[in-house]
Amino acid sequence: MRVAGLIRVVAFIFTVVTMWIFLRSYTNFNRKTIRLPRWLDTPKFKCGLSKSCLNNFFAFKISSGAANVVGPSMCFEDEIIMSPVRNNVGRGLNIALVNGTTGRVIRKASFDMYSGEPQPLLDFLTEIPDSTLVLVASYDDPGTKMNDKIKTLFTNLGSSYAKQLGFRDSWVFVGAKDLRSKSPYEQFLKNNPETNKYEGWPELLELEGCVPKKVM
Ligand SMILES: *[C@@H]1O[C@H](CO)[C@@H](O)[C@H](O)[C@H]1NC(C)=O
Repeated sequence: MRVAGLIRVVAFIFTVVTMWIFLRSYTNFNRKTIRLPRWLDTPKFKCGLSKSCLNNFFAFKISSGAANVVGPSMCFEDEIIMSPVRNNVGRGLNIALVNGTTGRVIRKASFDMYSGEPQPLLDFLTEIPDSTLVLVASYDDPGTKMNDKIKTLFTNLGSSYAKQLGFRDSWVFVGAKDLRSKSPYEQFLKNNPETNKYEGWPELLELEGCVPKKVM
């Protein structure tokens, strides 16, 4: 009786394993033989980029807000770190700090630059740790409470346009603490009634690419 029971158990396990192997190869087979249309078959890269980043780079994609209607969003290494869906963006300036070595998010915050006070942003920028990447997206109005101290701190992070930041400008930027040169990752559009896409705001801006890791 004992032996018969054991055989039954072995037979059962054998059946399950065989079935599992069969199903696996069957689904693999399906995936290979049913060809997707070309446009569906294109490989997916981090943050929806059109190419993959090299090993010592991080993938990112940032969109500024659209007028005062749609909030900005930030993707870093294929993770949406700030967005309206995550409910962690606000009007003004949205900033994420990322460890330049590990790619881990250190801090995220949004600063109301229209009716808020400039001091919290000043403190935030002053306390950025070394080797940190700084991702910035504007929404609605990044300029009203902007002051020269804040502009200088952004300029020190590698920004070329922070000095011009004003009422309802669109701005997306990736900089780094102690960057000794101008960051190549920046887009800026002045609020100009003659060229604005929306009635009171310029077009939203998008910035995407691969940013180098900080080698320790
Ligand atoms: C960044 O990550 C490195 C490696 O884990 C760590 O040594 C360093 O303290 C981190 N920096 C910050 C500011 O978190």
